[in-house]
Amino acid sequence: ISLKSTNVTWHESKITKQDRQTLKSHKSPVIWFTGLSGSGKSTLSVELEKALHEKEIHTYRLDGDNVRQGLNNNLGFSPEDRVENIRRIGEVAKLMNDAGILTLTAFISPYREDRQKARELLGDGEFIEVYTKCSLETCEERDPKGLYEKARKGDIKGFTGIDAPYEEPDAPEIVVGTDQHTLKDSVDKIISYLKQRNHI
Ligand code: PPS
Repeated sequence: ISLKSTNVTWHESKITKQDRQTLKSHKSPVIWFTGLSGSGKSTLSVELEKALHEKEIHTYRLDGDNVRQGLNNNLGFSPEDRVENIRRIGEVAKLMNDAGILTLTAFISPYREDRQKARELLGDGEFIEVYTKCSLETCEERDPKGLYEKARKGDIKGFTGIDAPYEEPDAPEIVVGTDQHTLKDSVDKIISYLKQRNHI
């Protein structure tokens, strides 16, 4: 992508990310959920956010279905549009991280390379990739929005897992088998991780 903004300089604030984190008494990592449609990204991120909020942690959740109605409403599901979708989310997540807000993102983010780029925007340990691992069969059985059925019929083209790729993470920080564990167990697993690493 060519850089179109020229003659711009970075203007420093007097308040740093560290200052904002100190104010809130917690860190602001990005918890990046990735997985097939119907694998539980949204459900899990909603529950995790609720549990964190109850612990007085300042959070914000970015979700595919929501962000695609606003910021990314000019993007579809072609490979190029998915790349741009994830690039923007990576940048927004970075702003949230700088703002001192613990951020949860729930996007299929099917390409390994794009997740890697989002990771590289953040500091060491600040990008926590959570793979909501679930077999395609189970996701199709769940089919909460009826989209797999449409994709199988050919009414939706380029559906992830059917006729568009999903590249599994090589080394995610956390794997949650959403067809094997309860929602509560998965939330607890992520909270323990955050505590262990002193994020919260
Ligand atoms: S991506 O691949 O990261 O850009 O996708 P994302 O922004 O997370 O959006 C995924 C949700 O969009 C709906 N949807 C589709 N998903 C996959 N493939 C195709 N072709 C498609 N068309 C619409 C679907 O409801 C996804 O929601 P989730 O929450 O993942 O089930």
